[in-house]
Amino acid sequence: MSRYFSQGEGTMQVPMDLFAVNRDRLCKSLRQLPKLQKNSVVVLQGGQGIPRYCTDVEYVFRQESFFHWAFGVIEPDFFGAIEVESGTSHLFIPKYPEAYAVWMGKIFNCDHYKQKYGVDHMAVILENAKAEIVLTVKGMNTDSNLWTREAVFEGMSKFKIDNELLHPVIVECRVIKTSMELDVLRYANKVSSAAHIAVMKAVRPGMKEYQCESVFLHHSYFHGGCRHVSYTCICGSGENGSVLHYGHAGAPNDKLIRDGDMCLFDMGAEYYCFASDITCSFPANGKFTDRQKGIYNAVLEASRAVIAHIKPGVSWIDMHLLANRVMLKHLKEHGLLQGDVDDMMKANLAATFQPHGLGHFMGLDVHDVGGYLEGHPARPEKAGLKSLRTARVLQPGMVLTVEPGCYFIDRLLDQALEDPELSKFLIKEAVAEHRGFGGVRIEDDIVVTETGVEVMTEVPRSTEEIEATMSVKC
Ligand code: GLY
Ligand code: MN
Ligand code: MN
Repeated sequence: MSRYFSQGEGTMQVPMDLFAVNRDRLCKSLRQLPKLQKNSVVVLQGGQGIPRYCTDVEYVFRQESFFHWAFGVIEPDFFGAIEVESGTSHLFIPKYPEAYAVWMGKIFNCDHYKQKYGVDHMAVILENAKAEIVLTVKGMNTDSNLWTREAVFEGMSKFKIDNELLHPVIVECRVIKTSMELDVLRYANKVSSAAHIAVMKAVRPGMKEYQCESVFLHHSYFHGGCRHVSYTCICGSGENGSVLHYGHAGAPNDKLIRDGDMCLFDMGAEYYCFASDITCSFPANGKFTDRQKGIYNAVLEASRAVIAHIKPGVSWIDMHLLANRVMLKHLKEHGLLQGDVDDMMKANLAATFQPHGLGHFMGLDVHDVGGYLEGHPARPEKAGLKSLRTARVLQPGMVLTVEPGCYFIDRLLDQALEDPELSKFLIKEAVAEHRGFGGVRIEDDIVVTETGVEVMTEVPRSTEEIEATMSVKC
């Protein structure tokens, strides 16, 4: 392998060909568009260093995902261009000031970067490319509702700009992963799985939640070369397990873990911008109570049912509903619910216990792009389905999370108890006893294959496996 990214011995070597293949796929897709004009050139702007407020300290740089997908460049402030007809690629490096050589290190020449990234040309101005129309990426991220940042560069006014064609095409390319991309996602999953297991072995009542976060961060960086995580670690113990986005600045994983708590730890390492997103739920003391086992197994059954059904042609909405149905059935058996499961489904009772969707696309972003694209099913309006991050029909090469959960969230339980259509299903005393339980989520990362599914996540999942893993303390 001539050019690759790696963090050294024991970490994955990612070939730069991965990005050449992506550029080629993008050009092929663009060339099929009747609206594509001659001499069109894709121009992408890489991420920029971001200072902390008005200070001269920057956040650790992480590349912008569209740019990374096409070029794999790790440095900030680059631009890239791709001539659509020929596929010829260009990288544009920033003009580093003299002081860079003093404070930041050697200033490399164009040849260095051409060698490093395997592009056809290095340049400082776009005139070197055969460009009449410049295609920039403009579109909304349907998870964040934020807009992409279109390339803006000096001399732009000399070109005709088209900011409509590119976004849906590059997004669709990102939805279907190549075999090289899958290899990196598998690696990120392998690193995160091992780090989750390290946490399970380390945890004990009396520790702070953030100490578990720190074990995960250390393990995935030290052993896997992952400098970043794909999102802020969620290390909820006890009642915090029901706070879906726990771990944020106002609730920074700072509770003491108590004997008898369930832990819900959602953590994913990122390697070279490739994400992972894994949740493990387990008792802090390593031994499930009957109540914990009942809730855990309801979620596990939902997860396994979905994984058994995923294959090309299946609708993600149907998978979500399947998970809901299986979980409700088991919560009824557990003694929390009463009545007919079909009626519960009609009343959308499941959203009281799992207010989020079954999962989402994952790739360079943890909530990856492409959930709602024109030409594919729109976001459902029905309560319970509208928080789904995609409603698409599955295709080989898609990567998704499968993450059913069951949470005891006071606000939602109170609302359900006040609603006669929902409260009739709730066994009030049992529900009251579960308040403060927190929650269980089981989150695996999967690939849709030609015939079914590949589960990339490798962590103990049955209660027996979890107890066996946790009995070996480190
Ligand atoms: N960790 C974020 C999520 O599960 O979607
Ligand atoms: Mn997720
Ligand atoms: Mn997650």
